[in-house]
Amino acid sequence: MFSFLNKDQTTGEVEERQLDDANIPAHVAIIMDGNGRWAQQRHLPRIAGHKQGMNTVKTVAKAASDLGVKVLTLYAFSTENWKRPSAEVNYLMKLPVDFFGTFVPDLVKNNIRVKVMGYTDQLPAATQKAVNDAIADTKDCTGMVLNFALNYGGRAEIVTAVQKLAEEVQAGQLTATDIDDEAIGRELMTADLDGLRDPDLLIRTSGEERLSNFMLWQVAYSEFVFTQQHWPDFDQTALEQAIYEYQQRHRRFGGLATDNTK
Ligand code: FPP
Repeated sequence: MFSFLNKDQTTGEVEERQLDDANIPAHVAIIMDGNGRWAQQRHLPRIAGHKQGMNTVKTVAKAASDLGVKVLTLYAFSTENWKRPSAEVNYLMKLPVDFFGTFVPDLVKNNIRVKVMGYTDQLPAATQKAVNDAIADTKDCTGMVLNFALNYGGRAEIVTAVQKLAEEVQAGQLTATDIDDEAIGRELMTADLDGLRDPDLLIRTSGEERLSNFMLWQVAYSEFVFTQQHWPDFDQTALEQAIYEYQQRHRRFGGLATDNTK
């Protein structure tokens, strides 16, 4: 049984809360938002927020792994983020180099395997190398999968999957009626996660309550938790609070609650 100290944001009251270790979400996905605002509040350049955000990734990856999360997917760079000023884009492209350059030994120590989803062939060569080296260096780890969405977009992912299926139909390998949930699922970038493709819990930091083109297909039945903290302030306790909130929900997947069947 995991326990943590929860501080009520309005009253300041602190109480001990217990997490049910039999109900830890297997796949947690996070939209890491608010790096820029965190920096702005401190009169720092936006990239200072991204740098602190990278440190938060280290803290949260370790915390999630310790709690027994099986897949942690992090939205690190979207297909729309190229629209940002080039200095910021360049910095964001350098972050994986710094992150994996310093953190791979810890990932191996914690048995964490790196996976990346997105259009990685469009990333700068140094970023691709850092990512590919990290994947190779952690390939034998059997614990949590740390899945970075890098140059990822949910609609583009679905478009690519549909194109692939259309090609298979054209080649006579598939008929139109063979295209079902499972067929689409196996063409998405989460296909290799097998039974853990869909997030159980989706967290977005920084008070915004939208999906921003993230895992549109996979979050069909995810529980959403929105937190006020900016990503650089997110920590182990914040993750535990989000999981606690998840554990208070009743997931029905379109059916009825067990006490509501009469
Ligand atoms: C959103 O905040 C954040 C991003 C677009 C980048 C997220 C990247 C990290 C947290 C570091 C990733 C680390 C690795 C290892 C790849 P924002 O800039 O949109 O914040 P704002 O809404 O306050 O401006």
